[in-house]
Amino acid sequence: MLAAYDAQMARIVAESEADAILVGDSVAMVVHGFPSTLHATMDMMVAHVAAVCRGAPNLVVVADMPFVSVRRGKAAATEAAARLMQAGATAVKLEGVRGHEEVFAHLIGSGIPVMGHLGLMPQAVNVVGGYRIQGRTDAEAERLREEARTVEECGAFAMVLECVPAALAASIAAEREIPTIGIGAGRETAGQVLVLADLLGYDARFRPSFVRRYVDGHGLVLDAINHFVRDVRTAGFPAETEVPA
Ligand code: KIV
Repeated sequence: MLAAYDAQMARIVAESEADAILVGDSVAMVVHGFPSTLHATMDMMVAHVAAVCRGAPNLVVVADMPFVSVRRGKAAATEAAARLMQAGATAVKLEGVRGHEEVFAHLIGSGIPVMGHLGLMPQAVNVVGGYRIQGRTDAEAERLREEARTVEECGAFAMVLECVPAALAASIAAEREIPTIGIGAGRETAGQVLVLADLLGYDARFRPSFVRRYVDGHGLVLDAINHFVRDVRTAGFPAETEVPA
């Protein structure tokens, strides 16, 4: 699964062998330049889900429920999830489970497939005190295992495990029947998710150890822009063939 946010990238993912697109609330950081995912709004998510679905109309598209949208009660959460589904999403993703178990069940009962998200939950960054690996102590690991069980019992069809020790992710993956999709969670999860912009290396400053940069997107784009600028300055662009008759 790849996190992508616009129609053009979605079209490329649709041509690839990937199984699904996640319209993650990371859009607030990657596209809109905010410092955290707390800034993703419903309107922002709906606009990006619609764009991705126009680009990849036949692919599974999972949409993140933005910050606190699952904590305003069942009715408000259902309203929010319905907006994402009506924008074209196939399913929604919810961070955490404690305290909003009934929202999972209610959404699924309303015909909305739900993906869970445990481990590092970026929407809770201010509570956990930073972007760090979760589940390192025995108590934390046990809590995560229990939460994974609850996510499955609530009817989620899959769950993301973000930034948890590989051994813990492996044991959760083995214990649960639904597929786990890892990011910074080792090799034993059923699937993996990366933010497409990270895999493409667009941000030269963002180098977490769990991201593999498959191309130096930043360098490629920078070179292309400079090439264009130099061509213009040296009257190399446009060429005769690029001039309308
Ligand atoms: O918002 C996002 O992109 C995500 C992935 C990192 C799992 O939730």
